[in-house]
Amino acid sequence: MIAEPPLKSLAPFRIGTAVRAAELTEPAYGDLVARHFSQITAEWEMKMEYVVQPDGSFRFDRADAIAGFAQRRGLKLFGHTLLWYANEPEGFARLDETRQSFEGALRNYVTAMVSRYRGLATGWDVVNEPVMENGEGLRESLWTRKLGQTGHFKVAFEAAKAADPAAVLFVNDYHLESRPAKLAAYMRLIEQLLKDGVPLGGIGCQTHCWSEMAPGAITATLKALAGFGLPIHLSEMDVSTVQGGMLASRAEAEQRQARLYAEAVEAFAALPERQQFAFTVWGLRDRDSWLKRENASDRPLLFDDAGRPKPAFSAVVNALRRRGSAG
Ligand code: XIL
Repeated sequence: MIAEPPLKSLAPFRIGTAVRAAELTEPAYGDLVARHFSQITAEWEMKMEYVVQPDGSFRFDRADAIAGFAQRRGLKLFGHTLLWYANEPEGFARLDETRQSFEGALRNYVTAMVSRYRGLATGWDVVNEPVMENGEGLRESLWTRKLGQTGHFKVAFEAAKAADPAAVLFVNDYHLESRPAKLAAYMRLIEQLLKDGVPLGGIGCQTHCWSEMAPGAITATLKALAGFGLPIHLSEMDVSTVQGGMLASRAEAEQRQARLYAEAVEAFAALPERQQFAFTVWGLRDRDSWLKRENASDRPLLFDDAGRPKPAFSAVVNALRRRGSAG
């Protein structure tokens, strides 16, 4: 069998995948990651839910293992994520003002994380998923309750900037392709952050999709977000083959999936070069996908359970080659 071409040899931009520390110890898995990708994102082991202990101490063992893999294999690291409404670890929530101000504890956490991977991390999702699902405003969280909407952005972004001035600092969100109100709210937030002088350096578009998604939605969303002139991170792409109803046969769902991956690559590659931060898929093989926990028959990624390339992989290769020949 002719070995499939390394994706990173065809992509004029960083191409990444989400990983977990345990999987990287599997030689076949690690080799496939290193063959195709130029950047890796910790799927969950650089989040507060893993790092912050109940006593407020930090645990970096798995984050360091992932960073070590990147260094050894000549890959870049993307930091995900500093603040997320879904992570309110006891170590913070229990913090009382006498021991250390809440703001001081948050600065300390952001500084510890970002400075630890300075020089290896190309950027960070500083605030993840701040917009309400229905787009009617911004989510409430421990961070907004303690520091206010603008306050928590300011504290987190400024601490991250001070810790690694070279890292590109992102806000990141999802379902922007399918929820116009959410996309509009996200764009209003970005405008506000830029107006407030928050050091926002890039815009994340997670791109969690499903095979029934209308062609063109990804393209329109990336174009809208690119209007700010900032680097764009297509940060977490997967294409569920079962969400949105099993309307099509498995073969048809996989063909639609392939077309959506190709559309995303074409839309991303059509951005001005300085705005092409990275194109990242949310996992390597179907069996590694978080979506499997919801539905074991889902096949959302570029490689099958055995690590063999799928039609989606070939679609990405062809889209990159078309872009490459277009010059
Ligand atoms: C998910 C991981 O894939 C899971 O393994 C973990 O249990 C929960 O988080 N958007 C995000 C990611 O920004 O951090 C989420 O990752 C998926 C949705």
